[in-house]
Amino acid sequence: MPGGTSKTAEYVALFRAIESSRPEEERLFSDPYADCFLDGKLKLGARLARNRIGRRLVCSYVDRNWPGSRPSVSVRTRLIDDAVRSAIADGAIQMAILGAGYDTRAHRLGADPALKVFELDQPPTQERKKARLLAQTGSLQENVTYVPFDLLDEGVGKPLEMAGFKRGTPSVCVWEGVLSYLTPEAVDQTIEWVTSACASGSRLVFTYIDVALLERGGSSQPPWSAQVARVGEPFRFGLDPDTLDDFLGTRGLRKCWDVSTAEAIRDEPLITGRSDAPDFYRVAEAEVTADR
Ligand SMILES: C[S@@+](CC[C@H](N)C(=O)[O-])C[C@H]1O[C@@H](n2cnc3c(N)ncnc32)[C@H](O)[C@@H]1O
Repeated sequence: MPGGTSKTAEYVALFRAIESSRPEEERLFSDPYADCFLDGKLKLGARLARNRIGRRLVCSYVDRNWPGSRPSVSVRTRLIDDAVRSAIADGAIQMAILGAGYDTRAHRLGADPALKVFELDQPPTQERKKARLLAQTGSLQENVTYVPFDLLDEGVGKPLEMAGFKRGTPSVCVWEGVLSYLTPEAVDQTIEWVTSACASGSRLVFTYIDVALLERGGSSQPPWSAQVARVGEPFRFGLDPDTLDDFLGTRGLRKCWDVSTAEAIRDEPLITGRSDAPDFYRVAEAEVTADR
């Protein structure tokens, strides 16, 4: 990615477009905007997937080349949608989407103008997203503020707060598909900002890869690792699920739940390719504690 737009964010948008094309009673969610972020072969794939036979072909091509990644993205999207909905129902009035890529929750779940949404990403991906949404919908949603920032730089809180994020307010922060690209220092500074800026009881929903994957030798890693590295976004950070409670606890967070996408998708018999969903890819939710 260096200097360019995120390719992994486009792959995620493709997987969401495919899931959205499934019949209403079968799909895990509907993201009607996902398609507008795609070009070339990815756009063609999404178009083909709109009918049953085309979808079968596209899924089998994608699943052969990226085993497990499509169903894993679909189930993580659904888990995080549900977590965001319940955080809003429980009183969150701000949402920060960190490394937002082509996440469209602000449009799909946060269209209530009373919910303030802050989307943070590196400038090239964010600019591309804004241009595509503008072309698709004719205007950008007023309750969404775009905050260009690189999480590897110091001072994540300042641009968010200058953009209007209110400290001490019940909030939900989404950090999906991002931690694995950061350094331990960048992960710590982001968590530190979340726990200091958000009211106690605020939620952080995030995905991470099991650090055991990074500790395996290159050739014994699954195809995903090489694929994301090839597009300039190598996995470099992971967490140990066995010590996640402690990791979060010492940083002012209490773990609410933590599940691998393989476990989460076992209950979704209609999702093809689910037997390849990885154990190493995990989704978790934590709550900001009062005693920090
Ligand atoms: C796999 S995509 C996930 C996008 C989005 N969260 C989603 O799930 O649809 C990874 C995202 O993280 C962003 N990202 C990676 N490194 C980043 C950094 N250092 N600072 C800010 N954003 C970053 C990329 O630009 C990209 O949008």
